Amino acid sequence: MSIPMCPEQIGSRQTANPKEHGHGRPASVLAIANQKGGVGKTTTAVNLAAGMALGDKRVLLIDFDPQGNATTASGLDKREIRPTAAELLLGEAGIEACIHASHSGDFDILPANGDLTAAEVRLVSRIGREMILRNALQAVRERYDVVIIDCPPALNILTVNALVAARGVIVPMQCEYYSLEGLSALMSTIEQVRDSVNSELAIFGVLRTMYDGRNRLTQDVSQQLETHFGRRLFQTIIPRNVRLAEAPSHGLSALAYDPASTGAQAYVQMAQEVMERMMELAACVAGRPPLGGVSTLDERKAGERG
Ligand SMILES: Nc1ncnc2c1ncn2[C@@H]1O[C@H](COP(=O)(O)OP(=O)(O)O)[C@@H](O)[C@H]1O
Ligand SMILES: [Mg+2]
Repeated sequence: MSIPMCPEQIGSRQTANPKEHGHGRPASVLAIANQKGGVGKTTTAVNLAAGMALGDKRVLLIDFDPQGNATTASGLDKREIRPTAAELLLGEAGIEACIHASHSGDFDILPANGDLTAAEVRLVSRIGREMILRNALQAVRERYDVVIIDCPPALNILTVNALVAARGVIVPMQCEYYSLEGLSALMSTIEQVRDSVNSELAIFGVLRTMYDGRNRLTQDVSQQLETHFGRRLFQTIIPRNVRLAEAPSHGLSALAYDPASTGAQAYVQMAQEVMERMMELAACVAGRPPLGGVSTLDERKAGERG
């Protein structure tokens, strides 16, 4: 697998003139992707958004799944809200009009609903359809520190739009026997996007979700993931916690719903890890070596061989 996990490849770039754009750096764009459903993508997207907002980051959460779960979890009514990602994709609305405040007010949300499925179908014959989100984001990237895209459970044109727009991919995974299965399809999609339109795309991190430490198999799979992904695996592990499942029905992140819960605390910690990683990467891009040194998968393999 030749997808880089090297810090030089991801994270935000210093602009030539930092003063030009207020805070000096366009947002880092992170896609939360895994074509398996129910692995914790939306839960991660929403709570990472809230966690980074808590860390004083200006966050835009983009719901790119027709199920609209991130929209609901952000406190918006997906049946009522307009315009959404569907209008954006079809060129019927500009990105500014599609951005709404989340109910809690701590991050912004670009919502989605079932209309996105119809939009996706209508896009099939359009040239440059995989570039739409990337191009649209140019207009607002200076306003945010981070843009988080919640992908649908499929490797379709919506996910490809997210991968084309992103610098880093966060892959949530359950520690189950088959969790690595199907990952090669995601990796090969990432590779195709890298080879064609977005050479900067890389794995930002792999996240263990819904973790039940009492289960022996879970521990074994977790160990396998450590061996496989090395430092690209987030140290933070998200436990199975009912508060994380309850919060969306209140239109809130778990951080707003029950900040003291173990689930909310885990996402606060994960957000911290993401911000640290982003700082490492920014330092790396600015020419300084990354803190701690992050080896690539290929380097580690070479080390194991030799
Ligand atoms: N750590 C967790 N503990 C308990 N329930 C969780 C956890 N993470 C996600 N869930 C629940 O599992 C289901 C699937 O999670 P979700 O984030 O929607 O996955 P995806 O977006 O990958 O389909 C949802 O009902 C969600 O509330
Ligand atoms: Mg989802």
